[in-house]
Amino acid sequence: MRIYEIINKKKRNNTLTAEEIYFAVNGFVDGTIPDYQMSALLMAIYFNGMNAAETTALTMAMVDSGEVLSGLDLGGITVDKHSTGGVGDKTTLAVVPIVAACGIPIAKMSGRGLGHTGGTIDKLEAIAGFKTSFSAAEFLAIIKKHGLCIAGQSANLAPADKKIYALRDATATVDSIPLIAASIMSKKIAAGADAILLDVKTGNGAFMKNLADAEKLAHAMVEIGEGCGRKMSALITDMSAPLGCAIGNALEVREVVLFLQGKRNPLAENLYILCEELAAEMLTLAGHENAREAVQKALASGGALQKFMSMVEAQGGNTAYVENLAREQGGGEKILAPESGYICELDTEGIGIAAMLLGAGRKRKEDAIDYTAGIELKFARGSLVEKGQVVAEFFTENRDSIAEARERFLGCITFSQERVAKSYESPVIARIGG
Ligand code: URA
Repeated sequence: MRIYEIINKKKRNNTLTAEEIYFAVNGFVDGTIPDYQMSALLMAIYFNGMNAAETTALTMAMVDSGEVLSGLDLGGITVDKHSTGGVGDKTTLAVVPIVAACGIPIAKMSGRGLGHTGGTIDKLEAIAGFKTSFSAAEFLAIIKKHGLCIAGQSANLAPADKKIYALRDATATVDSIPLIAASIMSKKIAAGADAILLDVKTGNGAFMKNLADAEKLAHAMVEIGEGCGRKMSALITDMSAPLGCAIGNALEVREVVLFLQGKRNPLAENLYILCEELAAEMLTLAGHENAREAVQKALASGGALQKFMSMVEAQGGNTAYVENLAREQGGGEKILAPESGYICELDTEGIGIAAMLLGAGRKRKEDAIDYTAGIELKFARGSLVEKGQVVAEFFTENRDSIAEARERFLGCITFSQERVAKSYESPVIARIGG
């Protein structure tokens, strides 16, 4: 078999066999296929796509390049969740303890944020002392004792994806649906869960800006998962407004703690609804018969809050810090509305970038984060505000960043004299699989 012929075959829009795909992935990982030939193959895939069998073979070739977690033996079906990323998306922090409080153990591996989107591991590390790196034995022991653990993804899961992603990043081949689907699913399959819930975001703060592409990506991932024997379900959810009011790591942990304590902010309803929907969907995948009722009970009884606190304690986090988060936050830089009107269109990605400029996110992978930095919104889409009213508070240790972040942020808000739809109606747009 020769890589030249495989490239040529895909360039001519023919279907690759699983053997050819394994040959390319293995050869790239072991260094016998150079970057320039793998880049050419990726570009041919970018233009000509892959069918379901090819995408599944690519996923499995990346899964087989590393360790596969199995034998979690948590007593019953294990369920995982993946979000394609957005602004203010702290759902994992709430959903994992809600599901665990309903009796389903959760072994969750999560990532860090980059650019305008945040990452669950960064948010958790905003809690003083919180550890996210464990050996497999430690990870399992925490889950067996407490019913949940959220850890950073092991470097041994799908290492081929890491190497291929770096090449895609440098060759403008990231935004290809089969390549994205295989990349995400290789890590999920390797992480070993029996059932996987996908939260595929769409809208101007999401990776997939339009609904048709989000649906294509969701279908491709559901098909791969089912092809690999997993139970799958995907929700397409709205990312044309931030989720909740907090954007930035410590601020987002605080927003989740208040939610689990039952202190709901009417402006953050889109977040609460999505957390409840995702938790119910995960329970349904795990075979729970009264998922919605169970979710409401876990929240109302304080069971979900208790699970969150026991996760913080088990993972070395400072529980007193978390308890104190609920106190009124103040001292931020107040951002005033430049005009009166209903807040209608939001440039959600731009709002994420404004938070990143304050220090809440990374421009490049190696950048450090200011965990306390971020934006607290004082409106939801659809709110009516008066000129001069506080629309947000900025938090940062770098006061020099405020002017640029303010300009960016205010440029992301459009005011209208007409009443507009509120962002706190259900963010769930469609459901695929399940
Ligand atoms: N997230 C991933 O893990 N892979 C992609 O290709 C895109 C987003």
